Amino acid sequence: MDARRRDGPRQTGRVPTDDAPAAPPAAATATPAPDAPATTAALDGEHPLVRRSLEVLGQLLTGAGGSSSTAGGFVEAHLGQPHTSLVLERVALTHTRSVSVGAVVADLLAAHPSAVLGPVEDGEAPTWTRIDLDGDHVSVPTSAAVAFPAGTAADVDVVVQLSRSEFDPDPASLRVLARPADHAAARALVDEVLATARRDKGFFRGRVLHAGARLPLELQPTSLGPGGREDLVLPAAVWAEVDAATSALTTRADVLREMGLGTNRGVLLAGPPGVGKSALSRVVAREMAGAFTVVVVDAAAASSVLRQVYRETADLGPCVVVLEDVDLYLGDRRAGARGTALADFLAVLDGTEVYTDVLTLASTNDPAALDAAVTRSARFDSTITLAPPDRAASARILDRYLGRLPAADAGDDGEQRPRVDTAAVAAALPAGATGADLREVVRRAVLDHGRDLTTERLLRVVADGRWKAEPLTGTYL
Ligand SMILES: Nc1ncnc2c1ncn2[C@@H]1O[C@H](COP(=O)(O)OP(=O)(O)OP(=O)(O)O)[C@@H](O)[C@H]1O
Ligand SMILES: [Mg+2]
Repeated sequence: MDARRRDGPRQTGRVPTDDAPAAPPAAATATPAPDAPATTAALDGEHPLVRRSLEVLGQLLTGAGGSSSTAGGFVEAHLGQPHTSLVLERVALTHTRSVSVGAVVADLLAAHPSAVLGPVEDGEAPTWTRIDLDGDHVSVPTSAAVAFPAGTAADVDVVVQLSRSEFDPDPASLRVLARPADHAAARALVDEVLATARRDKGFFRGRVLHAGARLPLELQPTSLGPGGREDLVLPAAVWAEVDAATSALTTRADVLREMGLGTNRGVLLAGPPGVGKSALSRVVAREMAGAFTVVVVDAAAASSVLRQVYRETADLGPCVVVLEDVDLYLGDRRAGARGTALADFLAVLDGTEVYTDVLTLASTNDPAALDAAVTRSARFDSTITLAPPDRAASARILDRYLGRLPAADAGDDGEQRPRVDTAAVAAALPAGATGADLREVVRRAVLDHGRDLTTERLLRVVADGRWKAEPLTGTYL
């Protein structure tokens, strides 16, 4: 990660070249740039905005055209021809790819001191974006132009531009500008940058990422917090189903690929609110992170960026995509559901777009509300239904939550006893109480009594019904 901790990239302006011939003279139409080496040196160390203000002021006072302050002027100054007579090789970038491509361009800039950084938007300073990676960070140019003299990034003079697109579904683009005779070299540079980015700059691979809801899509590294299987009380059959689904991407992936059966899997977790669907997704995601990249997509994000999320997976290696509460945005055509989310979903899961090595873990309260095409085999090839725990399981869940409570004094037989008879508390709860309800019972009791919990105190909370969210009564104006 050579691009890390880059401070103060070189700003617009010709700097003395040391590893390449001087850039060609400015085009006949362009006035000489006022930012001569002496000016540049005088502004060294100033804040970019101060530099830019002084540059513009200098241009006004000298009557110079300010060629290198506009994106077009910067390109013309370095390639010596009007912008419109150059060739431009362009490629759209997903968010993941824009970060890795930015890191490659940053490395090229660092390796060639004669390269010059400039604007890609008129009047905008080149922009570097910092991405936090578990305490470490990488800073990459996201909106910038870099003029590379011949013999540096390529054999010929080129200007490399990176830009973010606010209104495009493609989050970013990489462009290389060159003189028409150098078109092949520009194309080769694009290929080389993309290949290096893919090979050496997979910053997001193996991480847990959160998909933002706004277009263009941005993936933010995030954390799932602690917790493993031991924290969740679920029937053995549920874990067996989960293991069968994940093995498609772990132990059995090679066989499936050889047989042309595809390695994509979809698992739908169904069940009423609070039975642990999201908690189970998190446990699976935690287990698979590292070898797999995990992308968590909440309902708000999925309704707008689902297709973009699956496109990102091409650069992320084997992935687990966690889709929360799919019924909120997928719906059923028979019930009048319309919109792009359903169409996107059908396209990306075993539809017109083909992705490999993606496990989709989706959850819903209401599988019956989903379109038949959503649940057909090869989209979700297994549905795991989670039910509220029975009494024995409820007692075990209470044991988990009360696990850190100190034992009561030893009884007559010398045995240490737990302070709380969890079986008795579980028996007092109404049928259908979920894991989330049990957690709330313990939480309420802790709010009232701190660590000093007893069977009676928990039974009182259960009897009072204060663990349930009660609808407000009375008149509120
Ligand atoms: N079987 C269980 N074992 C242990 N804890 C559980 C269990 N089920 C639920 N919980 C607890 O309840 C919390 C809420 O559960 P979770 O958010 O996973 O429910 P959900 O099924 O996703 O609900 P929703 O449909 O409302 O999204 C969990 O974080 C966990 O602490
Ligand atoms: Mg949930």
